[in-house]
Amino acid sequence: MCGIIGYVGHRPVVPILIEGLNRLEYRGYDSAGVAVVNGSGLEITKAAGRISVLEEMIDFESKNTFGIGHTRWATHGAPNDTNAHPHIDSSEKIAVVHNGIIENYKSLRTFLEQHGVTFKTDTDTEVVAQLIGHFYDGDLERAVRRALREVSGTYGLGVICTEEPGVMVAARKGSPLIIGVGQGEHILASDASAILSHTSQVVYLDDGEIARIEAGNFRLTTLDNVPISKETEEVEWSLEEIERAGYEHFMLKEIMEQPESMRNCLRGRIDLTEGAVHLGGLVDCTRELVRAKRFILTACGTAWHAALVGEYLFEEFVRIPTEVEYASEFRYRNPIVDDGTAVIAVSQSGETADTLAALREAKQRGALVLGVVNTVGSTIARETDAGVYLHVGPEIGVASTKAFTGQVAVLALMACYLGRRKHMSPAAAADYLQALSRIPEQMQETLDKVNVESEKVAERYSQRNNWLYLGRGYNYPVALEGALKLKEISYIHSEGLPAAEMKHGPIALITEGMPVVFIATSGLQYEKIISNMCEVQSRGGSVIAIATEGDHEIAKQADHVIYVPHTIEPLQPLLASIPLQLIAYHAAVIRGCNVDKPRNLAKSVTVE
Ligand code: G6P
Repeated sequence: MCGIIGYVGHRPVVPILIEGLNRLEYRGYDSAGVAVVNGSGLEITKAAGRISVLEEMIDFESKNTFGIGHTRWATHGAPNDTNAHPHIDSSEKIAVVHNGIIENYKSLRTFLEQHGVTFKTDTDTEVVAQLIGHFYDGDLERAVRRALREVSGTYGLGVICTEEPGVMVAARKGSPLIIGVGQGEHILASDASAILSHTSQVVYLDDGEIARIEAGNFRLTTLDNVPISKETEEVEWSLEEIERAGYEHFMLKEIMEQPESMRNCLRGRIDLTEGAVHLGGLVDCTRELVRAKRFILTACGTAWHAALVGEYLFEEFVRIPTEVEYASEFRYRNPIVDDGTAVIAVSQSGETADTLAALREAKQRGALVLGVVNTVGSTIARETDAGVYLHVGPEIGVASTKAFTGQVAVLALMACYLGRRKHMSPAAAADYLQALSRIPEQMQETLDKVNVESEKVAERYSQRNNWLYLGRGYNYPVALEGALKLKEISYIHSEGLPAAEMKHGPIALITEGMPVVFIATSGLQYEKIISNMCEVQSRGGSVIAIATEGDHEIAKQADHVIYVPHTIEPLQPLLASIPLQLIAYHAAVIRGCNVDKPRNLAKSVTVE
């Protein structure tokens, strides 16, 4: 997965490409490069490392007005200068940026080598550049179309050629691409964040589409050259929403804005007087959903943890059997899915390749497919039969925070929406929704109170290399999420477990002073989790408890207590996850880690 940018217009291209790459850097950041067309040929600047390295090298004074750029997350070939995009063909006329994986690149490479082509890099992308070069006969669009007929795999492509200055060809299969439509200019990008400072008018490319883009116009066709007409759409996110708003890191900004993002997520969806939930995106399929025999929630990473909370919510309130599947496993294990199954893909980006593939698999097998997605217009959002947007605003920090709470909240809304049509009484729904509508202000209370305490815990234990996170019931997924947050940004080994499982193995890990975080808010299993805390303390472990305000007793079994406001058990993940986000954040800062761009990770994983 990588970020693509391209520009054709009347303004100097370099600053536009670099700005776009900086906004796309979250998609991958092991190398970056730019190709512009000047009077005499291609001018390529590329380097391993962050965009800042590229910025040092590139000529910002360049007057060229046409070019492409790329920020890479390596899949084939080491992340070095040579393998950085753009890649060119042997004639050095054609330059390509690519996001995705060319699966048959080896056989294509052999074919091209047999035709005398010498490869300079280890990448699958160079094969595309060389193949386009091989077919090029004076018409770039035709050559791209011809080359793509030979290619299997996924791609978002931006292609330029010195012989056709001012013509950029883009193609999409499996990797997102958007065209920003400006005044006498067009910007191609992997997502809207790279376009928004120039225009909010965009056209989303779909799989199997090719665009020929010039300064004043663009033309969309299918791979087989059938013309496609599409309306321009308006992107609603403002650039300001995407920027850091004065916080040191996007992650902290996104943690801190959860009261607001939660308000936006719930707005207009809760009717307290009727005890009803309004979800416009589900209206057309409500009957089918209520009749479903089974729900499968599928997702990756943090979204998978949110889906796990969803399973508990759906089974408790809708009383329809619900399973949670890693998208990457679901697709490859011949799952039993039929027209009585509703499959719900949960995804912040709406572009995660595994989740998308699972969804397509489910659709093909006859399931009703839904999306719980944040990014409007993303591929998952467009390929599902119905769905609910998170409306939590853009999330840039690689470690997901506000999207997690947004996903849990949407699943909580869905559970009530469907539950009311099954077994949930209006009174029970009213109580539940009352509690849900208080969450934004309780999130604010939580943030005001727990930040200092969370930082203290991080300071005290940030040099310990092993942590455990334990929870039961609704707090079990919270434990998983807390452990993931810590490991992904501070590189501390941490494991999340159902608290009762500790005694079946992990208890052997407990040594003097080992930090063990218990999510021990009030609820049905409270007494049991207190026993688990005793088990850890008696073996010398340091207990950090996330507890419900007013629970003073818990301090006897804990070395540290972080209090969160009281809410009903099913909604506790929305509050209990906040101190865990903050502990991870502060630990990463203390350890000098790059919080927003942790090593080896990317925000949106568009490869399988
Ligand atoms: C990547 C990100 C995670 C995210 C996961 C799923 O691994 O680093 O933060 O949870 O993808 O992403 P999605 O956009 O589908 O929610």
